[in-house]
Parts: sequence; structure tokens; C-alpha cells
Amino acid sequence: MTLESRPLVDSFAREIVGLRLWERSDGRTVDYLRDLWARHPVLVFRRQALSEHELAGFGALFGPLERVVRTDWASPMVPEVGLISNLKDGQARPIGGLGDGEIQWHSDQSYMLNPATGAMLYALELPPEGGTTSWVDLSAAYAGLGDPLKRVVEGRRAVFSYVKRLAGYQGVDRVMSEEAKRKTPPVLHPLIHTHPMTGRKARYLDSTTTIGIDGMDDVSGSALLDEIYAFATQPEFVYRHHWRVGDVVMWDNGFSMHRREPFDPAARRLMKRTTIFLSRERHIVPEGSLATEETVS
Ligand code: SIN
Repeated sequence: MTLESRPLVDSFAREIVGLRLWERSDGRTVDYLRDLWARHPVLVFRRQALSEHELAGFGALFGPLERVVRTDWASPMVPEVGLISNLKDGQARPIGGLGDGEIQWHSDQSYMLNPATGAMLYALELPPEGGTTSWVDLSAAYAGLGDPLKRVVEGRRAVFSYVKRLAGYQGVDRVMSEEAKRKTPPVLHPLIHTHPMTGRKARYLDSTTTIGIDGMDDVSGSALLDEIYAFATQPEFVYRHHWRVGDVVMWDNGFSMHRREPFDPAARRLMKRTTIFLSRERHIVPEGSLATEETVS
């Protein structure tokens, strides 16, 4: 089988054809995929059939897998695999997280000091409509900014808070363990990063966690964030993925955000996810610092 990649949206999202992800990839293929993912934040593979171990094994080719703070969403079989689903078990308890609602533009682990920025989602069951996921290219969104706004955000850090993320969740997803709370204090991350391989600048954003900008009062910080999000999420920067069963999509949260459309709660949707610590040599990986009381007051 010959390996090919074709663009889905300019340089931003690509589909890889000719790989069976359940088979062990040779060294050249792995190098090719690592290089491709460093440059294109969204890669799509169709018609895959993977066990949880195979999904985790494929993810681990790109870096150590994280066990995310939401241990309540972890698969009972392979704890590095998370279940993203609205399905419930025999006692009506959710089997995973994120239910059926809309999820606004976000970058998965922005609330962590050292976020694991790689993610993979594998589609096993899908609703007949809705549940579509979109990604936005924050490198193109930076390039398109006018110089005055570039100057305003340069050198600035935003405050990212998991408490804000939780408030947007539905039902039991809003509840988390004391340990998870301890691991997720508000953190600061720079708003602009430079990609280590391409030298292109990109913004680092998450509308579900940012609560302000370090050194700016609440009103000016919120106004600036609103302006930044309105610009970054314009349709020209977006790839909208229409899921098919067997799809694997991997994305780099270091220079993209994603959102999910809601779907009928009576329909079934089951996705499996891995989260990966990507290397700073090939990817934008924000290095956070703890926000002080002053920054978050
Ligand atoms: C996520 O935001 O990580 C999940 C996206 C989805 O359910 O499509």
C-alpha cells in the first residue's frame, strides 16, 4: 500500500491514505507522520478498526500518553484511553465524558501548567446528524491579524481556568474529584508562540478557559479576548469534519482550537480519545506559570 496525504483545507488539515493503524508502522512511516503532524495540526485517517491497545500504541508513537485529570472518563480497560460519549451503563451512569451538548472553541489542556497538546479521537458510533467537530488554524489566524492587534497581544499572557471550563459542561461532567481540583489551579500561558519547525507564529487560545489577560483590567482584558476570538474563528480558518465510523482524527492543540456541535440526546455517540505529550522540538508546547491571586482577582 502506498502512503499518500492530501490537503483537506490548505496546509492546515490533511487526510492520510494507505495506512492501517492497527499494524505496526515502520521507522520511515513514523518519521513521515511525525514530520507531517508537526506542520499540519489536523490529520485524518478513514476506515480504521482499532482495539484500545492499538489506539494507545499508535498515539504513543508521537510521545508519552497522558492519563488526564478526568480519570472518571477513562476506559476501564486502558486508562490512557478516554471515552467521549453520551452513553450510559446499566445503572444509568455515563460511561465517559462530554455528553451530547455543544462544546465551544477550546484547546484541550490549556488549563494545565504543562499541557499534553496532542490528541486523537476515534469514532465508533455516531448520531445520524449533529456531533460534527471543527478545528480552527491559529497560525493562519495569527498571520491574518492586523499589525496593531499583533502589537497589542505580543508578549501578553492570558489566564486559563478549569473552573470556567467546568461551568460550560452539562450534568455530572461539572463534578470533579478533589485531586483533579488540586491539579488544576488557574495558570498563565503566552498568547503568541513561534513554531519550532516552521518558524511561523501562532496564537494559543481557549474560549472555554480564558478569564482575563495578565496586566490588564477585567473590562479591557475581556474586550481584547472577545476581539481575538471573533477574528480567530472566522470560517476561512476552519476545517469542519463530518465524522464517519472508523475515522481517526489527530490534532495539535498547540496551534489549533476545536468545537463540537450538539446532537440528539436520544442518539448514540461513542468516541475514544488519547492525549499525548508532544515534543518541544517539533511542536508548540506552551510552558505555563501559576497565576497569582492578583492575576485572577
Ligand atoms: C473534544 O472536544 O475533545 C471532543 C470533541 C468531540 O466530541 O467531537
